[in-house]
Amino acid sequence: MIEITYYGHSTYLVKINNKSILFDPFISPNPKASQIKVEDIKPDYILISHGHEDHVADAESIAKGSDAMLVSNYEIAVWFAEKGVEKYHPMNHGGSKTFDFGKVKYVNAVHSSTLPDGSSGGAAGGFVIEHANGCFYFAGDTALTYDMKLIGEEFKIDFAFLPIGDNFTMGIKDAIKAASFVGTKKIFGIHYDTFPYIEIDIEQAKKEAAEAGKELILLNIGETFTL
Ligand code: NI
Ligand code: MN
Repeated sequence: MIEITYYGHSTYLVKINNKSILFDPFISPNPKASQIKVEDIKPDYILISHGHEDHVADAESIAKGSDAMLVSNYEIAVWFAEKGVEKYHPMNHGGSKTFDFGKVKYVNAVHSSTLPDGSSGGAAGGFVIEHANGCFYFAGDTALTYDMKLIGEEFKIDFAFLPIGDNFTMGIKDAIKAASFVGTKKIFGIHYDTFPYIEIDIEQAKKEAAEAGKELILLNIGETFTL
């Protein structure tokens, strides 16, 4: 069983094999997630796709308030280590590492990655997670790219977290193509409706996904979905 909880923007908590993995924590600066108590989130791992504020804002406090290991690219992992985050694991594109919940591959994204203080956050990435009961993809912020076909060739993706907000990332049309490239029908939407730049027509997006034979799953903030 997999439990998937949405905390707004691109922040998801995924529980597999009794381990919880938090992706791209951006909660306290998000007025739409004001009901979420950040201090109550105690993940085992924090995975960060890239350095932008809207993906890292609560990573330091959650890492320090829990026993979580922070996993990201080298530049971002070391930036947090210098802030006093003790448990961290640096990766880079194309590399895989096995943790106690499964195997993580840091894959390509097409996006920028400057950290909030202007430091280099390396190059943006995404994650493929292989675990005992399946495999999923967290794209982070990215354009549609043919590199996603490589993910479809290498893995059997059960579901994918894909940006759908357009403007800074893919919109729904490209997200539908991305889902086909990686080989899944099930899309969990990320990176939409948080700011005016990325507001979307949700009904239209769901309709386009359905017409393309995809299932677009958009959770309420705080909602948990069980697979
Ligand atoms: Ni970004
Ligand atoms: Mn972003």
